[in-house]
Amino acid sequence: MSHLSTIDLKKELVRVTSAYFEEPIDYLKLSNASTDYKSLLHEISGQNMDIEKGRNDIKNENGNALGTFWAALCLEDALRTRQFIKGIDRAIKDTKKKAPIHIMYAGTGPFATLILPLILRYPKEDITYTLLEINPFTYSVLQNIISKLDLEEYDITLVKDNATTYQIAPENTPDIIISETMQSGLMKEQQVPIFINLMSQVPYDTVFIPEKIELHLGLKKTDSLDGRFLKEHYTDVEKLFEVSKESMFASNPSKKQLIKKGSFAKKKTVIKEETLKGYSHLLINTYIQVYKDLKIDINESGLTVPIFIREIPNNNQSTVTVDTQYVISSEPKLEYTITLDTVVS
Ligand SMILES: C[S@@+](CC[C@H](N)C(=O)[O-])C[C@H]1O[C@@H](n2cnc3c(N)ncnc32)[C@H](O)[C@@H]1O
Repeated sequence: MSHLSTIDLKKELVRVTSAYFEEPIDYLKLSNASTDYKSLLHEISGQNMDIEKGRNDIKNENGNALGTFWAALCLEDALRTRQFIKGIDRAIKDTKKKAPIHIMYAGTGPFATLILPLILRYPKEDITYTLLEINPFTYSVLQNIISKLDLEEYDITLVKDNATTYQIAPENTPDIIISETMQSGLMKEQQVPIFINLMSQVPYDTVFIPEKIELHLGLKKTDSLDGRFLKEHYTDVEKLFEVSKESMFASNPSKKQLIKKGSFAKKKTVIKEETLKGYSHLLINTYIQVYKDLKIDINESGLTVPIFIREIPNNNQSTVTVDTQYVISSEPKLEYTITLDTVVS
């Protein structure tokens, strides 16, 4: 256990996380903040998570929930962590409702990484929190952190439950709902079924963080010399899928029913041979709008790394057709088939 008193631990947490709030971003400070935030949380927890029950993901019919050890590692994705913390802070400040406001955090991981710096910064009368986590080991580590930091004086409700089926009490609907339960390409994890379940139970003006996640069909230029990522080597062809209140809360009731069941529209994209000249790969690109102008661009985080789906041959003479559909299953993903039609001259 730490040699610091509880009061000093809280002060230290506020100090080490201050870089997340600074503007403009100083990447060196941000990286140091990640290291310090992580080591302080591990010191407080005192729990080794690199054990079998910590490394095992929980498999559900609509996707995986990350093992405790892996969920703890998410903190190290520095820009991601910064944009979410800053975005939640901005959303709290933008909330017009009289205090207390209610924040629900679905999939906290062992440290409630994205909300802890804010719990410590806002008066306890201003916000009530519902922290939802499915993994029992992760949940027990979080319980311990909350108790060691003496956060019992705050209005925090810890819930061990599945956010894809969780029922929100109608008299206590949240004003802000946060979930970062995704990977690049919205693969494997449960971001989409979690948001569908929660979106279907709350008023339209509830703020969801992230506000929008988009998957695009993309192309990568041939001449990326030394393997370094350069944004100008990547381009988008078409948006394939969007997760947002606007897209999920479709005004059309029959579409809404389909979305509730997790049936998403099929999309066909045809790319002409001329368009493909100078490009070496077909990709799925992920973009995240965390809150308003706080975004995570392609490759700025592990969550937005481009996914290579097909090489385009040098001498390509084909029109390429890509059929896609986002499908929720035990391994959610954007399913695709790629067909090449050679142009006969
Ligand atoms: C990618 S980790 C992120 C951890 C932390 N929120 C962060 O951003 O650093 C996702 C967390 O959500 C939890 N989770 C995933 N699916 C869930 C579900 N259906 N219900 C509740 N928690 C879930 C996982 O167990 C894991 O702890």
